[in-house]
Order: sequence, then C-alpha cells, then structure tokens
Amino acid sequence: MSQRTLVILKPDAVRRNLIGEVVGRIERKAGWTISALELRTLEREVLEQHYAEHVGKPFYPPLMDFMTSGPAVVLIVEGERVIEGVRALAGPTDPIAAAPGSIRGDFGTIVRENLIHASDSEESAEREIKIFFPGAA
Ligand code: PPS
Repeated sequence: MSQRTLVILKPDAVRRNLIGEVVGRIERKAGWTISALELRTLEREVLEQHYAEHVGKPFYPPLMDFMTSGPAVVLIVEGERVIEGVRALAGPTDPIAAAPGSIRGDFGTIVRENLIHASDSEESAEREIKIFFPGAA
C-alpha cells in the first residue's frame, strides 16, 4: 500500500551533520521516494500546530525551544508502507531504548534530542503535510 509521511530531521541531526546519514537510510529503502525536502528553521507558530496534542505536557516547553533552536530538514517521503517503515528506521522515542541499527539507537542518548520525527498514522501524515507543505496537500 503506497503512502506518504512527513519526516523532520530535528535540529540536533542538522547540527551534528547527520542529514546525509539519515536521508541515505531513507533513500536506500527500495521504492521509497522523497517528494519534498527543505532545510528551514521552524517557526514556533507552525510547531504549535504540529505539536498541538502535547500542549500542557511537561516536555512541551523544552521541546518547542529545542525544535526552534536551529535549522531542521522537513521531508515528504512516499512509498510502500512508508509510515510504519520510517518509524521502524527511527526506533522508539527514547534513544537508550532504541536498538542499535535504528537511527535513534545508533546516534541518540537523550529523549529530547532524538533526531527525527515521523508521522504515526495516515491521518497524522495528511494533517502534518498540510502544516509544513500547504502546497502539497
Ligand atoms: S506521548 O505523550 O506518549 O504522546 O509522547 P510521545 O509520542 O512519546 O512524544 C511526543 C513528542 O514529544 C517528544 N518528547 C519529548 N521531547 C522532549 N523531552 C521529553 N522528555 C520528551 N518526551 C517526548 C517526542 O520526541 C515526540 O516528538 P516527535 O517530534 O513526535 O518525535
């Protein structure tokens, strides 16, 4: 089943020169295509929409500060089961719990700086694509 998903390489991934490493892992999956890719410092207003469900949680203020702390890379990736697939490449939220071989397992240590965001469902993907790439909706 072909799908599309919204992926963010978070500011820690960009600061640590891991764009090529992470994008390479996505590109090497057979049949997946990057249909949009942009390096940009994310605006707080855009992130407020993206993380709306997390308003009020203790991690929300530091997450917003971190996500606006430098440029990020935002992508749309399309292909077979890409929503589940990118999340499998990423590994679980906590990098210490993530298996070696996953992006977070290989490169992360602390939860906030976990390198990558990937949509968790078709509904989220369509919502998030509209937020970051209104023209691709
Ligand atoms: S929840 O409450 O289970 O829905 O949260 P979760 O899906 O695990 O995480 C939602 C996003 O918040 C980030 N997160 C954190 N950021 C900073 N500090 C802490 N402690 C923290 N815990 C979770 C997490 O990486 C998710 O961001 P995205 O961009 O979706 O990866």
